[in-house]
Amino acid sequence: MLVVLKKDYEEVSREAARMVAGAVRAKPDIVLGLATGGTPLGLYKELVALHRADALDFSCVTSFNLDEYLGLAHAHPQSFHCFMEENFFSQVNLPRERAHIPDGTIRGDYDAYCERYEQSIKSAGGIDLQILGIGRNGHIGFNEPTSSLASRTRLKALSRETVEDNRHVFSSESEMPKCAITMGIGTILESRRVLLLASGRSKAAAVAKAIEGPITSSVSASALQMHPDVTFIIDEEAAYSLTQRDYYRHVLEMTQLFMPERLS
Ligand code: F6R
Repeated sequence: MLVVLKKDYEEVSREAARMVAGAVRAKPDIVLGLATGGTPLGLYKELVALHRADALDFSCVTSFNLDEYLGLAHAHPQSFHCFMEENFFSQVNLPRERAHIPDGTIRGDYDAYCERYEQSIKSAGGIDLQILGIGRNGHIGFNEPTSSLASRTRLKALSRETVEDNRHVFSSESEMPKCAITMGIGTILESRRVLLLASGRSKAAAVAKAIEGPITSSVSASALQMHPDVTFIIDEEAAYSLTQRDYYRHVLEMTQLFMPERLS
């Protein structure tokens, strides 16, 4: 596990964009796993800037988003479909037919739909690089506390904390979805490489539990400790509760020296 400590949100976004851009250049037909929310907004902005100024090419890229609210039409302004269109897809040349987002409008056989989502990830060759944010309760995707560490894409009831954190963007509380379709923790752990971004003091407790706490279904992100290639890119505020910051800096220096490819 690599922990990259940055000063603030802007630095986190730039560093994440540098790594994602490097991965896209190294493998133009890369399969990306994408996240929504406030955290990756800066990353998408940086990637759009690199696309415009440095011809970063997404024309052969395939993407799979982590999750979508259940019951929201694609055109709903708070849907993750809308978020991705507005903040990324409309501004880069990633072909829409290769951009996959769980469909929040499905009704009925959720298991069959989720199994098809899993199959399409497999058919694309699996996720090469998964971008993650983290919830205050340690969720990744919408894998709320007590999600099975082996879980796959499925319908998931949102926790009270997640509803509280997100309902301000909906015009009324009744409009806030109560469930989502989300990739599972098992799905995420199958990605070849994971980048988790976090910024701000509100994430400090969850980040510390994910990196330094025991592996537990009470903190979904702690499952990442079992993944062989995870990089946390976090700012000072999000790193506030970590006890081994000096060691992480030392590891980073040594990685730069001996295994720079892990940071490219
Ligand atoms: C979003 C997602 C969530 C968010 C998390 C943090 O696709 O899967 O796990 O990453 O809720 O959200 P923000 O970045 O808004 O704090």
